[in-house]
Amino acid sequence: MVTKSVSQEAFTGARATNLFFRRWLRNPLQMGSIVPSSPVLGQLIARHIEKESDGAVVELGAGTGAVTLSLIRSGIAARRIVLVEIVPEMAEHLESNFPDARVLQADAFNLPADKLRHMAPNISTVICGIPLVLLGEKRQRQFIEQVETIAPGKGFLFYAYCITSPLPYRNLNLEARRLAWTPLNFPPASVWHYRPKS
Ligand SMILES: C[S@@+](CC[C@H](N)C(=O)[O-])C[C@H]1O[C@@H](n2cnc3c(N)ncnc32)[C@H](O)[C@@H]1O
Repeated sequence: MVTKSVSQEAFTGARATNLFFRRWLRNPLQMGSIVPSSPVLGQLIARHIEKESDGAVVELGAGTGAVTLSLIRSGIAARRIVLVEIVPEMAEHLESNFPDARVLQADAFNLPADKLRHMAPNISTVICGIPLVLLGEKRQRQFIEQVETIAPGKGFLFYAYCITSPLPYRNLNLEARRLAWTPLNFPPASVWHYRPKS
C-alpha cells in the first residue's frame, strides 16, 4: 500500500515541492498556490468523506498528491480514489506514487465522462483542488456542470484561501457550507461544500 511503501517525502518533500513550484512559475493561474496543501488541510477534507462507503472519491486537480496522501492515511482505500490532473508530468508523478489509485490525465472542464463512469460507476465524493476562485462565473458554471454530469446532486468539496465563500454561490445556484478552516496551511485555507440548490 502506498502509505507504507512511500514516505511523506514523495508528496511534500523537495521533489514534489520543486515540481509544484516549477509548474507555478509556468502557469500560476492553473496552479493557484506555490506549494502543495499541508497534511492538516488534507485531514480536514478527509474528515468529511465516509470511510466505510464503496463509493469512489474523485479528486480534481490532484497535483503532486498531498491531499490524496491524507485521504489514504485517514483510512480511505486507495482503490476508491480517482485522481484527475491536467499536467502530464504531475499525472505521471501520481501514477508512480499511488499505484492502487486510478489516475486520469484530463481537463476537469472537459471530462471524459464515459471513461470516468467506466472507471468509477458510483461516485460518492468529488473534491476540487482547482483554483476556481481565479476564474470567472462562466468557467465556474462550466465546472459545476461537469461535476453534475459525473456525480449528480452530490456537489463538491472545495478548499480555497478565503474565509468568506470563495465562490459566488447564489449566482451559481448552489448551496454553500463552510466545513473547516485552518491556519496550518500556506496560505491558511477553508474547506467548503457546495451542492446544487434543492
Ligand atoms: C492548488 S493546486 C492543488 C494540488 C493538490 N491537490 C494540493 O492540494 O496540493 C491545483 C492543481 O489543479 C490542477 N489543475 C488546474 N486546472 C486543471 C484542470 N482544468 N483540470 C485538471 N487539473 C487542473 C493543477 O495542475 C494543480 O495541480
